[in-house]
Amino acid sequence: MSVRTAVAGDPAALSAIHTASFHEGWTEADFHTWLARAEAICVVAEHAGEVVSFGLALAAGSDAELLTIASVPAQRSRGLGRQIMRALDVEAGRRGLDRWILEVARNNLPAIGLYSSEGFVEIGLRKAYYPSETGRIDALVMSRPVLR
Ligand SMILES: CC(C)(COP(=O)(O)OP(=O)(O)OC[C@H]1O[C@@H](n2cnc3c(N)ncnc32)[C@H](O)[C@@H]1OP(=O)(O)O)[C@@H](O)C(=O)NCCC(=O)NCCS
Repeated sequence: MSVRTAVAGDPAALSAIHTASFHEGWTEADFHTWLARAEAICVVAEHAGEVVSFGLALAAGSDAELLTIASVPAQRSRGLGRQIMRALDVEAGRRGLDRWILEVARNNLPAIGLYSSEGFVEIGLRKAYYPSETGRIDALVMSRPVLR
């Protein structure tokens, strides 16, 4: 397993993981657009030559906004998400960013478990933030310093 910065050839793999993870997954073209942005921070974990997990964030002033972390369903609970978070810290630290901000659906217990165990704390609530098949879901807003 190795972790590296995303490259121009990664969007298809990122889209496949995102689509397997979310009701309205982002397309390959979406990821091309994200990666082309100077503010984008994207790291991927590879296993046996395949991308198995990734994290995407945007620099916003001195904040780092975590847009998503996702692991291939068959490879979850093996420490990939945590490694991605650590790699994102390194990249955000390199850019001089100070603070992580993220939104996470209130019922997304694996993600809340990951973020809580990584030191994130709840700093706010966004009512009815995410659409879902069962109606709109609140988002927790979580934050912690960028770790160096
Ligand atoms: C959230 C997600 C990225 C975690 O990835 P992962 O590769 O399984 O993460 P890890 O194996 O590194 O787990 C790290 C920690 O997360 C927490 N966690 C992981 N899966 C969990 C689960 N099913 N229930 C509760 N906590 C969980 C645990 O604290 C875990 O630490 P531990 O193994 O020491 O107990 C993964 O479940 C995923 O891809 N989900 C779909 C996409 C998503 O919802 N992303 C978050 C968007 S905000």
